[in-house]
Amino acid sequence: MLDGKKSLFSGMQATGTLTLGNYLGALRNWVTLHDEYECFYCVVDEHSITVRQDPATLRKRARDLLILYIAAGLDPEKNCIYYQSHVSAHAELSWILNCFTYMGELNRMTQFKDKSAKHADNINAGLFTYPVLMAADILLFQSDVVPVGIDQMQHLEITRDIAERFNNIYGDVFTVPEAYIGKVGAKIMSLQDPSKKMSKSDENPNASIYMMDDPDTIMRKCRRAVTDSEAAILYRDEQPGVKNLIDIYSACTGKTVDEVLKEFDGKGYGDLKTGVGEAVVSVLKPIQDEHARLSKDKAYIDGIIKNNAEKAAYYANKTLRKVQKKVGFPERVR
Ligand code: TYM
Repeated sequence: MLDGKKSLFSGMQATGTLTLGNYLGALRNWVTLHDEYECFYCVVDEHSITVRQDPATLRKRARDLLILYIAAGLDPEKNCIYYQSHVSAHAELSWILNCFTYMGELNRMTQFKDKSAKHADNINAGLFTYPVLMAADILLFQSDVVPVGIDQMQHLEITRDIAERFNNIYGDVFTVPEAYIGKVGAKIMSLQDPSKKMSKSDENPNASIYMMDDPDTIMRKCRRAVTDSEAAILYRDEQPGVKNLIDIYSACTGKTVDEVLKEFDGKGYGDLKTGVGEAVVSVLKPIQDEHARLSKDKAYIDGIIKNNAEKAAYYANKTLRKVQKKVGFPERVR
Protein backbone atom coordinates (compact mmCIF):
# COMPACT_ATOMS: atom_id res chain seq x y z
CA MET A 1 0.00 0.00 0.00
CA LEU A 2 1.43 3.39 -1.01
CA ASP A 3 -0.28 6.68 -0.22
CA GLY A 4 -3.58 4.88 0.35
CA LYS A 5 -3.51 2.97 -2.95
CA LYS A 6 -2.67 -0.71 -3.31
CA SER A 7 0.69 -1.21 -4.95
CA LEU A 8 2.29 -3.72 -7.21
CA PHE A 9 5.80 -4.59 -8.38
CA SER A 10 7.12 -6.88 -11.04
CA GLY A 11 10.24 -7.18 -13.14
CA MET A 12 12.04 -9.05 -15.85
CA GLN A 13 15.64 -9.79 -16.52
CA ALA A 14 17.29 -8.15 -19.47
CA THR A 15 19.17 -11.35 -20.20
CA GLY A 16 18.48 -12.86 -23.62
CA THR A 17 15.42 -11.94 -25.63
CA LEU A 18 12.00 -12.30 -24.10
CA THR A 19 10.00 -15.37 -24.99
CA LEU A 20 6.32 -15.90 -25.58
CA GLY A 21 6.36 -17.44 -22.07
CA ASN A 22 7.50 -14.15 -20.53
CA TYR A 23 4.78 -12.36 -22.42
CA LEU A 24 1.86 -14.69 -21.74
CA GLY A 25 2.93 -15.54 -18.18
CA ALA A 26 3.64 -12.01 -17.03
CA LEU A 27 3.82 -8.94 -19.26
CA ARG A 28 0.41 -9.43 -20.85
CA ASN A 29 -1.26 -9.48 -17.44
CA TRP A 30 0.43 -6.27 -16.39
CA VAL A 31 -1.24 -3.88 -18.78
CA THR A 32 -4.65 -3.88 -17.14
CA LEU A 33 -3.67 -3.31 -13.54
CA HIS A 34 -2.86 0.39 -13.25
CA ASP A 35 -6.37 1.50 -12.29
CA GLU A 36 -6.41 -0.72 -9.26
CA TYR A 37 -2.76 -0.47 -8.22
CA GLU A 38 0.16 1.92 -8.10
CA CYS A 39 2.33 -0.08 -10.51
CA PHE A 40 6.12 -0.43 -10.66
CA TYR A 41 7.65 -2.41 -13.52
CA CYS A 42 11.35 -2.74 -13.39
CA VAL A 43 14.05 -3.90 -15.78
CA VAL A 44 16.08 -5.87 -13.25
CA ASP A 45 19.54 -5.29 -14.69
CA GLU A 46 21.23 -5.92 -11.32
CA HIS A 47 19.89 -9.46 -11.29
CA SER A 48 21.30 -9.96 -14.78
CA ILE A 49 24.93 -9.73 -13.74
CA THR A 50 24.68 -12.85 -11.57
CA VAL A 51 25.79 -14.50 -14.80
CA ARG A 52 28.51 -12.95 -16.98
CA GLN A 53 27.26 -10.37 -19.44
CA ASP A 54 28.86 -8.44 -22.25
CA PRO A 55 28.40 -4.81 -21.07
CA ALA A 56 27.35 -3.35 -24.43
CA THR A 57 24.88 -6.18 -25.02
CA LEU A 58 23.39 -5.88 -21.53
CA ARG A 59 22.92 -2.12 -21.99
CA LYS A 60 21.18 -2.64 -25.31
CA ARG A 61 18.98 -5.45 -24.02
CA ALA A 62 17.97 -3.45 -20.97
CA ARG A 63 16.84 -0.56 -23.17
CA ASP A 64 15.08 -2.90 -25.59
CA LEU A 65 13.25 -4.49 -22.70
CA LEU A 66 12.16 -1.17 -21.24
CA ILE A 67 10.81 -0.15 -24.66
CA LEU A 68 9.13 -3.53 -25.00
CA TYR A 69 7.21 -2.94 -21.77
CA ILE A 70 5.73 0.17 -23.37
CA ALA A 71 5.23 -1.44 -26.78
CA ALA A 72 3.30 -4.26 -25.11
CA GLY A 73 0.83 -1.73 -23.76
CA LEU A 74 2.15 -0.39 -20.45
CA ASP A 75 1.34 3.30 -20.40
CA PRO A 76 4.40 5.04 -18.90
CA GLU A 77 2.20 7.83 -17.53
CA LYS A 78 0.22 5.33 -15.48
CA ASN A 79 2.93 2.78 -14.69
CA CYS A 80 6.36 3.46 -13.28
CA ILE A 81 8.78 1.79 -15.72
CA TYR A 82 12.46 2.04 -14.78
CA TYR A 83 15.87 0.39 -14.43
CA GLN A 84 16.72 -1.27 -11.12
CA SER A 85 20.30 0.07 -11.28
CA HIS A 86 18.98 3.67 -11.34
CA VAL A 87 17.44 3.32 -7.88
CA SER A 88 20.17 2.57 -5.35
CA ALA A 89 17.66 1.65 -2.63
CA HIS A 90 17.30 -1.81 -4.22
CA ALA A 91 20.90 -2.73 -3.43
CA GLU A 92 20.81 -1.02 -0.03
CA LEU A 93 17.70 -2.81 1.19
CA SER A 94 19.03 -6.03 -0.25
CA TRP A 95 22.08 -5.77 2.03
CA ILE A 96 19.92 -5.29 5.09
CA LEU A 97 17.62 -8.18 4.14
CA ASN A 98 20.67 -10.42 3.60
CA CYS A 99 21.13 -10.18 7.34
CA PHE A 100 17.59 -11.52 7.86
CA THR A 101 17.83 -14.45 5.43
CA TYR A 102 19.25 -17.87 6.24
CA MET A 103 21.75 -19.78 4.13
CA GLY A 104 19.53 -22.86 4.46
CA GLU A 105 16.58 -21.03 2.89
CA LEU A 106 18.65 -19.87 -0.06
CA ASN A 107 20.12 -23.35 -0.49
CA ARG A 108 16.66 -24.70 -1.22
CA MET A 109 15.97 -22.39 -4.17
CA THR A 110 15.55 -24.43 -7.34
CA GLN A 111 16.61 -21.53 -9.58
CA PHE A 112 19.93 -21.38 -7.70
CA LYS A 113 20.41 -25.12 -8.15
CA ASP A 114 19.59 -24.92 -11.87
CA LYS A 115 21.73 -21.87 -12.53
CA SER A 116 24.71 -23.10 -10.58
CA ALA A 117 24.58 -26.36 -12.53
CA LYS A 118 24.48 -24.37 -15.76
CA HIS A 119 27.24 -21.93 -14.76
CA ALA A 120 29.47 -24.25 -12.73
CA ASP A 121 32.52 -22.07 -13.43
CA ASN A 122 30.90 -18.99 -11.86
CA ILE A 123 28.85 -19.86 -8.78
CA ASN A 124 29.11 -16.39 -7.26
CA ALA A 125 27.56 -15.04 -4.07
CA GLY A 126 25.17 -12.89 -6.13
CA LEU A 127 23.65 -15.97 -7.71
CA PHE A 128 23.10 -17.35 -4.20
CA THR A 129 21.56 -14.17 -2.75
CA TYR A 130 19.56 -13.39 -5.91
CA PRO A 131 16.21 -14.00 -4.12
CA VAL A 132 17.13 -11.45 -1.44
CA LEU A 133 17.52 -8.72 -4.04
CA MET A 134 14.19 -9.81 -5.46
CA ALA A 135 12.64 -9.55 -2.00
CA ALA A 136 14.09 -6.04 -1.70
CA ASP A 137 12.58 -5.08 -5.08
CA ILE A 138 9.14 -6.13 -3.95
CA LEU A 139 9.22 -4.93 -0.35
CA LEU A 140 10.60 -1.47 -1.19
CA PHE A 141 7.26 -0.60 -2.79
CA GLN A 142 5.09 -2.13 -0.07
CA SER A 143 3.65 -4.29 -2.83
CA ASP A 144 0.32 -5.96 -2.22
CA VAL A 145 0.61 -8.16 -5.29
CA VAL A 146 3.34 -9.39 -7.60
CA PRO A 147 2.21 -10.56 -11.05
CA VAL A 148 4.55 -13.38 -12.16
CA GLY A 149 4.57 -16.78 -13.85
CA ILE A 150 4.46 -19.95 -11.77
CA ASP A 151 8.25 -20.41 -11.90
CA GLN A 152 8.70 -17.39 -9.59
CA MET A 153 6.46 -18.73 -6.80
CA GLN A 154 9.33 -20.05 -4.71
CA HIS A 155 11.00 -16.62 -4.78
CA LEU A 156 7.77 -15.04 -3.73
CA GLU A 157 7.43 -17.43 -0.81
CA ILE A 158 10.88 -16.53 0.50
CA THR A 159 10.02 -12.83 0.08
CA ARG A 160 6.97 -13.36 2.27
CA ASP A 161 9.04 -15.25 4.85
CA ILE A 162 11.65 -12.48 4.99
CA ALA A 163 8.96 -9.80 5.31
CA GLU A 164 7.16 -11.65 8.10
CA ARG A 165 10.40 -12.31 9.94
CA PHE A 166 11.33 -8.64 9.78
CA ASN A 167 7.85 -7.52 10.82
CA ASN A 168 7.91 -9.92 13.78
CA ILE A 169 11.02 -8.24 15.08
CA TYR A 170 10.35 -4.58 14.25
CA GLY A 171 6.56 -4.21 13.91
CA ASP A 172 4.59 -3.69 10.71
CA VAL A 173 7.27 -2.39 8.38
CA PHE A 174 6.55 -4.32 5.19
CA THR A 175 3.36 -5.26 3.38
CA VAL A 176 3.46 -9.04 2.93
CA PRO A 177 2.88 -9.55 -0.81
CA GLU A 178 0.70 -12.08 -2.64
CA ALA A 179 1.48 -13.62 -6.02
CA TYR A 180 -0.82 -12.73 -8.89
CA ILE A 181 -0.85 -15.59 -11.37
CA GLY A 182 -2.77 -15.30 -14.65
CA LYS A 183 -5.54 -17.82 -15.34
CA VAL A 184 -3.98 -18.95 -18.61
CA GLY A 185 -0.39 -18.94 -19.76
CA ALA A 186 1.20 -19.01 -16.30
CA LYS A 187 3.53 -21.78 -17.44
CA ILE A 188 4.23 -21.98 -21.16
CA MET A 189 6.32 -25.04 -22.00
CA SER A 190 9.13 -25.61 -24.49
CA LEU A 191 7.92 -26.42 -28.01
CA GLN A 192 10.58 -29.11 -28.30
CA ASP A 193 10.35 -30.67 -24.84
CA PRO A 194 6.98 -29.94 -23.22
CA SER A 195 8.20 -31.23 -19.87
CA LYS A 196 10.41 -28.11 -19.54
CA LYS A 197 9.29 -24.47 -19.34
CA MET A 198 9.89 -22.24 -22.35
CA SER A 199 13.05 -20.36 -21.48
CA LYS A 200 15.19 -17.54 -22.86
CA SER A 201 18.31 -19.57 -22.24
CA ASP A 202 17.26 -22.76 -24.06
CA GLU A 203 20.05 -23.86 -26.38
CA ASN A 204 17.61 -25.17 -28.98
CA PRO A 205 16.26 -22.11 -30.83
CA ASN A 206 13.17 -24.07 -31.93
CA ALA A 207 12.16 -24.61 -28.31
CA SER A 208 11.14 -21.00 -27.69
CA ILE A 209 9.23 -18.38 -29.61
CA TYR A 210 10.95 -15.06 -29.04
CA MET A 211 8.90 -11.90 -28.89
CA MET A 212 10.94 -10.46 -31.73
CA ASP A 213 10.71 -13.51 -34.02
CA ASP A 214 9.37 -12.63 -37.48
CA PRO A 215 6.12 -14.24 -38.66
CA ASP A 216 7.82 -16.88 -40.83
CA THR A 217 10.01 -18.00 -37.94
CA ILE A 218 7.00 -18.19 -35.62
CA MET A 219 5.03 -20.28 -38.12
CA ARG A 220 8.01 -22.59 -38.68
CA LYS A 221 8.61 -23.11 -34.95
CA CYS A 222 4.94 -23.88 -34.36
CA ARG A 223 4.86 -26.36 -37.24
CA ARG A 224 7.90 -28.12 -35.74
CA ALA A 225 6.43 -28.25 -32.23
CA VAL A 226 6.65 -31.70 -30.65
CA THR A 227 3.26 -33.40 -30.20
CA ASP A 228 2.58 -37.16 -29.92
CA SER A 229 1.22 -40.10 -31.88
CA GLU A 230 -2.29 -40.03 -30.36
CA ALA A 231 -3.65 -37.95 -33.25
CA ALA A 232 -6.36 -36.50 -30.98
CA ILE A 233 -6.67 -32.88 -29.90
CA LEU A 234 -7.44 -33.34 -26.23
CA TYR A 235 -6.47 -31.26 -23.20
CA ARG A 236 -4.82 -33.68 -20.82
CA ASP A 237 -1.50 -34.23 -19.02
CA GLU A 238 -0.76 -37.37 -21.06
CA GLN A 239 -0.43 -35.14 -24.14
CA PRO A 240 1.78 -32.31 -22.84
CA GLY A 241 2.79 -31.00 -26.27
CA VAL A 242 -0.80 -30.67 -27.48
CA LYS A 243 -1.87 -29.28 -24.10
CA ASN A 244 0.79 -26.58 -24.36
CA LEU A 245 -0.33 -25.63 -27.88
CA ILE A 246 -3.92 -25.37 -26.67
CA ASP A 247 -2.77 -23.18 -23.75
CA ILE A 248 -0.89 -20.88 -26.13
CA TYR A 249 -3.85 -20.66 -28.48
CA SER A 250 -6.23 -19.99 -25.63
CA ALA A 251 -3.96 -17.31 -24.13
CA CYS A 252 -3.45 -15.58 -27.49
CA THR A 253 -7.09 -15.62 -28.61
CA GLY A 254 -8.82 -15.18 -25.27
CA LYS A 255 -10.90 -18.31 -25.96
CA THR A 256 -11.50 -20.85 -23.21
CA VAL A 257 -10.00 -24.33 -23.47
CA ASP A 258 -13.47 -25.74 -24.19
CA GLU A 259 -13.98 -23.28 -27.02
CA VAL A 260 -10.59 -24.21 -28.47
CA LEU A 261 -11.39 -27.93 -28.26
CA LYS A 262 -14.67 -27.33 -30.06
CA GLU A 263 -12.99 -25.26 -32.75
CA PHE A 264 -10.44 -28.01 -33.50
CA ASP A 265 -12.84 -30.91 -33.10
CA GLY A 266 -12.18 -33.43 -35.90
CA LYS A 267 -9.13 -31.52 -37.10
CA GLY A 268 -5.50 -32.64 -37.14
CA TYR A 269 -2.31 -31.51 -35.41
CA GLY A 270 -1.29 -29.65 -38.58
CA ASP A 271 -4.39 -27.43 -38.29
CA LEU A 272 -3.74 -26.82 -34.61
CA LYS A 273 -0.10 -25.85 -35.23
CA THR A 274 -1.03 -23.47 -38.04
CA GLY A 275 -3.79 -21.97 -35.91
CA VAL A 276 -1.40 -21.45 -33.01
CA GLY A 277 1.23 -19.88 -35.28
CA GLU A 278 -1.29 -17.44 -36.71
CA ALA A 279 -2.65 -16.55 -33.28
CA VAL A 280 0.85 -15.88 -31.95
CA VAL A 281 1.76 -13.72 -34.97
CA SER A 282 -1.40 -11.66 -34.53
CA VAL A 283 -0.46 -10.95 -30.92
CA LEU A 284 3.26 -10.29 -31.40
CA LYS A 285 3.37 -8.43 -34.72
CA PRO A 286 1.69 -5.22 -33.46
CA ILE A 287 4.03 -5.19 -30.43
CA GLN A 288 7.06 -5.59 -32.69
CA ASP A 289 5.90 -2.74 -34.92
CA GLU A 290 5.33 -0.49 -31.94
CA HIS A 291 8.73 -1.43 -30.53
CA ALA A 292 10.39 -0.42 -33.82
CA ARG A 293 8.52 2.90 -33.80
CA LEU A 294 9.31 3.74 -30.17
CA SER A 295 12.96 2.76 -30.53
CA LYS A 296 13.45 5.65 -32.93
CA ASP A 297 12.11 8.20 -30.44
CA LYS A 298 15.18 8.61 -28.25
CA ALA A 299 14.08 11.80 -26.49
CA TYR A 300 10.71 10.33 -25.49
CA ILE A 301 12.24 7.15 -24.09
CA ASP A 302 15.00 9.04 -22.28
CA GLY A 303 12.37 11.25 -20.66
CA ILE A 304 10.52 8.22 -19.35
CA ILE A 305 13.73 6.69 -18.01
CA LYS A 306 14.59 9.85 -16.11
CA ASN A 307 11.17 10.73 -14.70
CA ASN A 308 10.21 7.23 -13.69
CA ALA A 309 13.51 6.54 -11.94
CA GLU A 310 12.89 9.64 -9.83
CA LYS A 311 9.39 8.51 -8.95
CA ALA A 312 10.57 4.99 -8.08
CA ALA A 313 13.43 6.38 -5.99
CA TYR A 314 11.03 8.61 -4.04
CA TYR A 315 8.87 5.68 -2.89
CA ALA A 316 11.77 3.28 -2.49
CA ASN A 317 13.70 5.69 -0.28
CA LYS A 318 10.69 6.19 1.96
CA THR A 319 10.66 2.49 2.80
CA LEU A 320 14.44 2.30 2.98
CA ARG A 321 14.66 5.16 5.52
CA LYS A 322 12.04 3.48 7.67
CA VAL A 323 13.95 0.21 7.62
CA GLN A 324 17.29 1.91 8.33
CA LYS A 325 15.77 3.56 11.35
CA LYS A 326 14.25 0.31 12.60
CA VAL A 327 17.55 -1.58 12.45
CA GLY A 328 19.36 1.20 14.29
CA PHE A 329 21.30 3.18 11.71
CA PRO A 330 21.97 6.77 12.85
CA GLU A 331 19.50 9.45 11.75
CA ARG A 332 20.55 11.67 8.89
CA VAL A 333 21.46 15.23 9.86
CA ARG A 334 19.61 17.77 7.73
P1 TYM B 1 12.36 -13.72 -15.64
O1 TYM B 1 13.05 -12.58 -16.29
O2 TYM B 1 12.97 -15.07 -15.75
O3 TYM B 1 10.89 -13.84 -16.19
C1 TYM B 1 10.02 -12.71 -16.25
C2 TYM B 1 8.60 -13.15 -16.02
O4 TYM B 1 8.19 -14.11 -17.00
C3 TYM B 1 7.63 -15.26 -16.36
N1 TYM B 1 7.95 -16.45 -17.17
C4 TYM B 1 7.04 -17.33 -17.64
N2 TYM B 1 5.71 -17.38 -17.53
C5 TYM B 1 5.07 -18.40 -18.15
N3 TYM B 1 5.70 -19.37 -18.87
C6 TYM B 1 7.05 -19.35 -19.01
N4 TYM B 1 7.64 -20.28 -19.74
C7 TYM B 1 7.78 -18.30 -18.37
N5 TYM B 1 9.10 -17.97 -18.32
C8 TYM B 1 9.18 -16.85 -17.56
C9 TYM B 1 8.30 -15.30 -14.99
O5 TYM B 1 7.53 -16.02 -14.06
C10 TYM B 1 8.39 -13.83 -14.65
O6 TYM B 1 7.18 -13.37 -14.10
N6 TYM B 1 13.56 -13.21 -10.86
C11 TYM B 1 12.67 -12.73 -11.89
C12 TYM B 1 12.76 -11.23 -12.13
C13 TYM B 1 12.52 -10.40 -10.92
C14 TYM B 1 11.26 -10.16 -10.31
C15 TYM B 1 11.53 -9.33 -9.21
C16 TYM B 1 9.96 -10.58 -10.63
C17 TYM B 1 13.45 -9.76 -10.18
N7 TYM B 1 12.85 -9.09 -9.15
C18 TYM B 1 10.48 -8.90 -8.38
C19 TYM B 1 8.93 -10.13 -9.79
C20 TYM B 1 9.19 -9.31 -8.69
C21 TYM B 1 13.04 -13.41 -13.18
O7 TYM B 1 14.14 -13.85 -13.38
O8 TYM B 1 12.06 -13.39 -14.12
